Amino acid sequence: MAKLGVNIDHVATLRQARGGIEPDPIKAACLCVKAGADSIVAHLREDRRHIQDKDLIKLKATIKSRLNLEMSINPGIVDIACRLKPDQATLVPEKRQELTTEGGLNVALYRDKIKNVIERLKSKDIVVSLFIDPERKQIEASRKVGCEFIEFHTGRYADSKTEAWRKFHLKEIVEATKHALNIGLRVNAGHGLNYRNVSSIAGIPGVEELNIGHSIISYAVFVGLERAVKEMLELIEN
Ligand code: PXP
Repeated sequence: MAKLGVNIDHVATLRQARGGIEPDPIKAACLCVKAGADSIVAHLREDRRHIQDKDLIKLKATIKSRLNLEMSINPGIVDIACRLKPDQATLVPEKRQELTTEGGLNVALYRDKIKNVIERLKSKDIVVSLFIDPERKQIEASRKVGCEFIEFHTGRYADSKTEAWRKFHLKEIVEATKHALNIGLRVNAGHGLNYRNVSSIAGIPGVEELNIGHSIISYAVFVGLERAVKEMLELIEN
């Protein structure tokens, strides 16, 4: 069975909207682990739009699961990762204006830069994963730069407008997984996975972990809203 990593960035996004302390992403992470999540994923963006440096320090000290830090290859961020020493670092491309991580890392193009970052992280005993599109060129480049894991960007599959495209992109991920495993890489997957589309990806042999954020945090709002309103009404009535 594939493991589950829960991305808690959206909890921090909500907190940052008011600039206060609620909702607390560390508390959210603890609940995710209590519910069975195998790891917690947090992305320290260069613009600090959600997760803050102090969140990572608290997460590292508090959670009883692996911490997977999503990060760009920006030297300042790499320094922070080397000091923090999360269990895993997932290298992602990062653009200031994007709403979310829009595509995979171009490992083939930035091979030397990425190789240096991987060497720095590995020297601190951090397991490194590269977030890439399910493409042969990127898989082979990832093998050459010496990472242990790759994470396939499942966005094209998740955003497919028709069943035919969905099947096409699923096949792409299945084939890419086979190729990656054959050349000795370990495989994770994520982005855009939700309660309707996760099964096909979870069923791909050899995919070790699925990293999911937006759909879980969105669903949690509705799972919890009824109770939240009832408890507020009780306080008002009493
Ligand atoms: N994996 C990686 C590398 C990501 O960048 C993201 C988005 O932060 C996810 C998984 C989770 O994507 P989503 O929020 O769409 O589930």
